[in-house]
Amino acid sequence: MNASNAALEPILRACPIIPVITLPSAECVMPLAETLITNGLTTLEITLRSPFALEAIGHLRRSFPKAVIGAGTLTQIDQITALESVGAQFVVSPGATDALIEAMNQSKMAFLPGAATPSEMMRLAQAGYTVLKFFPAAAMGGPAALKALSGPFSDLRFCATGGIGFAQVADYLRLQNVCAIGGSWMVDPALIQEGAWSEIGQRAYAAGQLAITLSNGRK
Ligand code: 3PG
Repeated sequence: MNASNAALEPILRACPIIPVITLPSAECVMPLAETLITNGLTTLEITLRSPFALEAIGHLRRSFPKAVIGAGTLTQIDQITALESVGAQFVVSPGATDALIEAMNQSKMAFLPGAATPSEMMRLAQAGYTVLKFFPAAAMGGPAALKALSGPFSDLRFCATGGIGFAQVADYLRLQNVCAIGGSWMVDPALIQEGAWSEIGQRAYAAGQLAITLSNGRK
C-alpha cells in the first residue's frame, strides 16, 4: 500500500479546492502560482499533460515552501522517478493500473488514484487506499453518485474532479465523503495565456472563500 495515501485526507480538507493546472508555457508558472496562492488556493495540481510540468513542480516547491504542490495525470510508471526528484508532494492519476499501484506502493509520494466505478473502488480499497479521486465526477453522476457510494463505501474519501465549476462546488463539499474537489475553471488555459491574473485571482478568491464558508458551516 502507498504509505501516504491516508495522510492526504487532512491535507485535502485543509485547502479543499485544488486548481488543476495544465501549463501553456514556462513563463506563466510564477505569476500563476503567486496569484492562486495569495488568493487562498495553496494546494496546486500541475498536470503532466504539459512539457513544462516537471520543471515547474521543482520550481514551485523551492519558491513556495508552504504550499502543497502535486502532479496530475500520472499514467506511466516511468514518470515516477522524475516526480520524486523534483519533490512532488502528491501524485494524482485519472485511473489505476496494477503497474501504477505497485510502483506507487514503493514511493514515499502520496498517491491519489482515480476510480469511477464501485469495482474500481473495491480494487483500490483492497490495495489499502482510502482516499481516491472520483473522475470524471460530473459525467459519472456527480454529488448524487458520491452520496450513493457513501453507503457501501463508508470508509472511502474522495477528491471529486472532472466537469466541476464554481456553481457545483458546494453540492460536492457538503458531502461527508468528499474531502476536496479539483477543477480547472479558475485556471482556464486561455486566461493563463492572456495573463489575466486579475480574473484568475478573483476566481481563486471566490473559490477559497466558499470553501471557508462551507467549512465554518460544518463546525
Ligand atoms: C482533469 O483531470 O482535467 C481534472 O479532472 C479537471 O477537470 P476539469 O477541467 O473538468 O475541471
